Amino acid sequence: MTERLALPKDIERVLLDEETIQRRVRELADQISADYADVGEIVLVGVLKGAFIFLADLARRLTIPHHVDFIALSSYNRGAVSTGAVRLIMDTRAPVTGQHVLIVEDIIDTGYTLDYLVRTFRARRPASLRTCVLLSKPERREVDVRVDYLGFEIPDVWVVGYGLDYADKYRTLPYIAALKREVYAT
Ligand code: IMP
Ligand code: MG
Repeated sequence: MTERLALPKDIERVLLDEETIQRRVRELADQISADYADVGEIVLVGVLKGAFIFLADLARRLTIPHHVDFIALSSYNRGAVSTGAVRLIMDTRAPVTGQHVLIVEDIIDTGYTLDYLVRTFRARRPASLRTCVLLSKPERREVDVRVDYLGFEIPDVWVVGYGLDYADKYRTLPYIAALKREVYAT
């Protein structure tokens, strides 16, 4: 496996290789395209920065009309430790009222971020609102939030690659990998 030879020094192991991710993204896109076949157009709201690669791949596989918008959040993380407080730092360009909104997020951990997003967007009266999340760490959940489209469940380890970072590093690795615990443990 060439990926193993090229692993950066902070990486413990590859959890999901490029082919596995692409296959699952295709399945999710097919499912979403089928579910929304009759609604006209949807708006994909990508959560920056982590979801940008997932959103790009997913959107290009959709066979339904769609447009893309983004929001950015700050979650007061200290390294790998989430404080649970979420703040909107960049809103969507266009209003979403009356539109079919699909929130596209990289990962759900405690659930605070997705819960905040769902509550925020629901208040804007979209025609419908669903969530699409690439990764979930079920063991870590503190808030119960509905994920309508989920890519993969993963164990409680810090992952990087395919948009996900640690201190803004490793986002553009083509695979999803676990970081060595000594890198993020405090
Ligand atoms: P939650 O609010 O605890 O569910 O955390 C969700 C956010 O924390 C995600 O949007 C990510 O930005 C970040 N996050 C949680 N776990 C990881 C991880 O393993 N790698 C990279 N980012 C993570
Ligand atoms: Mg995120």
